Formats: sequence, structure tokens, C-alpha cells
Amino acid sequence: MYISQITELLKQHRSIRRFTDKPIEPALLNDLIASGQAASTSSYIQAVSVIQVSDLELRRQFAELAGGQMYIETAAEFLVFCADLNRNAHRSSLVADEELDFSWTEQFVAAVVDTALFAQNVVVAAEANKLGCCYIGGIRNNPDLVTSLLALPTLVFPVFGLCLGYPDQSPERKPRLPLETVLYRDRYQSAVEHAPEIDTYDTHVREYYVRRSQGKLTMSWSEQMAKQARTQTRDFMQEYLKKQGFVLK
Ligand SMILES: Cc1cc2nc3c(=O)[nH]c(=O)nc-3n(C[C@H](O)[C@H](O)[C@H](O)COP(=O)(O)O)c2cc1C
Repeated sequence: MYISQITELLKQHRSIRRFTDKPIEPALLNDLIASGQAASTSSYIQAVSVIQVSDLELRRQFAELAGGQMYIETAAEFLVFCADLNRNAHRSSLVADEELDFSWTEQFVAAVVDTALFAQNVVVAAEANKLGCCYIGGIRNNPDLVTSLLALPTLVFPVFGLCLGYPDQSPERKPRLPLETVLYRDRYQSAVEHAPEIDTYDTHVREYYVRRSQGKLTMSWSEQMAKQARTQTRDFMQEYLKKQGFVLK
């Protein structure tokens, strides 16, 4: 694949939420995960584990806890990506004389960054193989339940799920912020300075939602951000992370 084809592939991305019943060959799935593993990793920590959820009853429970996202059940594969410092803590304890601490906030940040980079490599490799994907942050609605369903030990955090399968839909691409509102030179530029471009973008997003929902949804990007800030606080998260042994310092 040429560079221009890769950038085109990246820019063609859309989340897919409806899948055919065609399965994914195990060799292809392994290759996707190997592509994920090839991503850069902070200080070589490789702090990622992926749990392939095959059991149908487990899938049903995930769909429910994520707020009724049925594509978790209908996707060919559902993967849970975990930031995992448990393996590193165990292996370090075998070779170190002193007690090592994996509860620093910086270590948590590095593990979550690693997980996102790994997963996005999987997504790009999947899309290059004509698969469709949808991340599922909705699993963080109930991290305690996810922890018990998947028997996660301490120092493992389920960051998001990922539905994977052959697409049975071809949605319109979702508009992104104008380039000049996200790329600055030499100094930060605030949203106040970029108000005219973001106002225009808001109009485009509103039109996009009207088209996509046959007129039922009319929301600008700014309105969606306000709604998101109002509703998706997941106020249990800090306590959960501490229980899992993260961000204690
Ligand atoms: C970390 C993360 C979590 C997400 N969680 C969900 C989710 O729970 N359910 C869902 O339908 N889409 C989810 N998405 C998909 C986003 O809604 C989607 O990427 C965004 O609206 C842009 O649309 P696009 O991917 O089609 O370009 C998630 C995306 C990311 C990156």
C-alpha cells in the first residue's frame, strides 16, 4: 500500500455499528493484534492486555451495562482493551529486592496511552482488511461489573471495548473540526480566536445530524459537548481506579 493510500484509508474512517454475520478468520484476528503490539510503547512497558469476549451471555451483559449497545452482541468479535500494569508488577517483583510501586499517576497515564495506541493500530489494520470497528467507552459505565465479569486483578483497567466485524452499513463520514482550529504554530490559539470557524463547523455538524437522523436530531458540536459534560461524569471513576491500585500518588 502506498503512503497516499494509507492516508486515504485513515481519512475514510467511520465507526461501524451494523455488521454482517461473516466471522473473522482467527489468523486475521491474530495479525490485527500483532499490529497493535507493534505500536510504540512508553519506555517499553507494553502495558496492554486484550480480552476477546466470545461467550454469548457475557456479550449480552456487556451490551446491557454499556447502555443497551446491541452491536456488542452482533459484532463478529468484541475485544476489551485493558491498561495492564499487573504483569509488569509481577515480573518486576521476581527480579527486584526492594518493593516496587506501580500506583503513580504517571504510570497510569502511560498505560492508558499505550492502550489507545495499541487499539488504534488494531483499528487501522482492521479497516485496511475491510473490517469495520466501533470503540465502546460505554463499558466504563460500570467498571466494577466489568472487573468481576472478566476477573480483572488489581493494576488492570478496562479502558474501552471494540466491536469488530464486516460492515453491513456505509455511514457518511462524521465531520471533524477544521484543520486550522486544531493545528497551531509556535503558540496556543484559543477557541475564542477561532470562533468564526467553529461556528461554521457547528452548522455543518447540525446539518450532518439532521441528514443522519432524518430530521430527528439537530445538534451542533458545541451543544453535544455541553450535553456530554452534563451527563457523562462517571463520578465513581476516581474511587474505582484507587480500588484497582492506580493513581494513589
Ligand atoms: C474511546 C472511545 C469510546 C467510544 N465509545 C463509544 C460507545 O460506547 N458507543 C458508540 O456507539 N461509539 C463509541 N465511540 C465512537 C465515537 O462515538 C465515534 O468515534 C465518534 O462519534 C466519531 O465518529 P466516527 O468514528 O464515525 O468518525 C467511541 C470512540 C472512542 C474513541
